[in-house]
Amino acid sequence: MAKHPQTIIDRLPSDFLWGVSTSAYQIEGAVAEDGRGPSIWDRRCKMKGGVGDGSNGDVSCDHYHRYREDIGLMKDIGVDAYRFSIAWPRLLPTGKGAVNEAGLDFYDRLIDSLLDAGITPWATLYHWDLPQGLDDLGGWTNRDCAGWFADYAVLAAKRYGDRVKHFATFNEFSVFTLFGYAIDWAAPGVTDRNAHLKAIHHVNLAHGAGVDVLRSLVPDVSIGAIHNRQKVLPEGGMPENQAAADLLDEHWNRAFPDPQILGHYPPQIARAIEPYVQAGDMARICRPIDWFGLNHYGPIFAKADPATTWGFGWGDTPSGGPDYGIGWRIFPEMFRDELITLTERYRLPVYITENGCGGDRDVPDARGQVIDPHRIKYLEVYHQAMCDAIAAGADVRGYFVWSLLDNFEWGSGYGQRFGLIYVDFPTQKRIPKESARWYRDLIRQARGG
Ligand code: FCB
Repeated sequence: MAKHPQTIIDRLPSDFLWGVSTSAYQIEGAVAEDGRGPSIWDRRCKMKGGVGDGSNGDVSCDHYHRYREDIGLMKDIGVDAYRFSIAWPRLLPTGKGAVNEAGLDFYDRLIDSLLDAGITPWATLYHWDLPQGLDDLGGWTNRDCAGWFADYAVLAAKRYGDRVKHFATFNEFSVFTLFGYAIDWAAPGVTDRNAHLKAIHHVNLAHGAGVDVLRSLVPDVSIGAIHNRQKVLPEGGMPENQAAADLLDEHWNRAFPDPQILGHYPPQIARAIEPYVQAGDMARICRPIDWFGLNHYGPIFAKADPATTWGFGWGDTPSGGPDYGIGWRIFPEMFRDELITLTERYRLPVYITENGCGGDRDVPDARGQVIDPHRIKYLEVYHQAMCDAIAAGADVRGYFVWSLLDNFEWGSGYGQRFGLIYVDFPTQKRIPKESARWYRDLIRQARGG
């Protein structure tokens, strides 16, 4: 058994929640089964250059059929909670109107099996798989999309709210809007300032409407929203990259939590978005929620790039410093600082809803085992940083590893393996990595076992 540092174990609250995260399109497969409609990611995967390795989520981990086995693996790790997302196009194949009973049934089976295994379901309503039928009507650039999302939320809340008490409205608002409507790193692949501004505002409205739906329909509900927040620094520390870093910081870190929790947009976005804001909108967006979900991987280095939609681009990470064999530099102190800043700024309990380590280094050895010391090191230093933040007053209540399984990593396809469990995609064989045992032992020891 891995012995975990007391500097982690002793500094965690006794009721700390341990979990793992996934999302529907990244693991389920079965994209044309039981009446599921196409999403914008099904379409993107078919476009030339849409996904780096030309792959798609058609089969992925085949979790749609293997969810029982996957729940067994979670049980072996000993997690308290499982964060998954509901695929909107499974419930409503064209996004609105006709309901797909077989799609609703899948999540009934998943939720019931989780509860039987003693694992608490945490459902995210939107993890990027917008029904293609809605994109055909303008998707998030259409103000009506907020209402379509609210109708979908009603369906999910009524069906699952008797058993699911933890809901997040969206996953990483700024990533899918920025990459999908300004940069073309994600579906639907638009690159237009006005489309992006509209998408930001309409997604914020959808969040507010979703919160109201969940609050009114789910007894004892606990509602959160999941934000990516990562410090944005100018590439090379250069003054000529500072303006780019400041604007990217507004887009990446503040365009969603600020209006949702503080009731206003950050200054540069506030000016640009004004044409799309109607009377009463800020009150519709700023609805009380119960927790802040933080997804964090590492800082971002920004550079001025006039060729892009907003004039900022992704700069290079400084070389040197520890990388623990991961292949990219890691900055756990930025995670600590983020947790402290976040607690002070938004004054909500925080759940770390994603953190983890990808890469292409995980391969079964001659004995068929997957030994991943780089991931263990990453998780260990990030846990230490989290404990430092807690000691400094950050209100962190739980931690979910991204991810349970190696899966379809959006624009990079299958090259990036983030799982605690290795998946051999041709055979669908699952092999718990060494890091899965590390996490299991951490949870046991944190519980005093
Ligand atoms: C996050 C996404 C998640 C996964 C991880 C690696 O941005 O929310 O789906 O792709 O990154």
